Amino acid sequence: MNEVQQEARNLILIGFMGTGKSTIGKFSARSLGFRYVDTDDVIVDLAGMSIPEIFQNQGEEAFRDIEIEAVQKVAKSNNQVIATGGGIVTREANRKILKRCGYVIWLKADPESIFERVSRNRNRPLLQTENPLATIRELLAEREELYRETADFEVNTSELTVDEIVHGVTESARIAFC
Ligand code: S3P
Repeated sequence: MNEVQQEARNLILIGFMGTGKSTIGKFSARSLGFRYVDTDDVIVDLAGMSIPEIFQNQGEEAFRDIEIEAVQKVAKSNNQVIATGGGIVTREANRKILKRCGYVIWLKADPESIFERVSRNRNRPLLQTENPLATIRELLAEREELYRETADFEVNTSELTVDEIVHGVTESARIAFC
């Protein structure tokens, strides 16, 4: 486990779409007395449109550029739980900023659990394909190493309840922030 610099007191959740970053982030923020921030919400504010609209009107590269801006913005504050978009690790600039601005936890899940969790909504442009499960597998394979190199700690969420994950996440953060 990496030591976290005294001034970098953020808890950052990374991981694929549908691994529970927002839900776990909100409960963890309450437990730690931190502010909850979601980089996807910051992107929507900066762009003035929804994520599907950004992808549709401007494409993924433009989305990634706004995502870097969002990360730079949230990294300026402390005492936050920061939930991030699943593709945040695909840009090296983001990986560097996230590692510097807090303690990074990777929420992992197997492709089937992810598919189960994301199949209920159409808010994720990258998964609007003919075979979303195959897309999940491909993207996971591309990103796995990037999540690993960015994270200080990993939690496999597939077999755990929300309460158990929140407990694991907040306890490891408390130790890291000592
Ligand atoms: C993306 C994940 C999404 C959102 C965008 C792209 C990705 O966030 O940032 O649709 O590339 O994995 P969630 O992980 O919160 O769904």
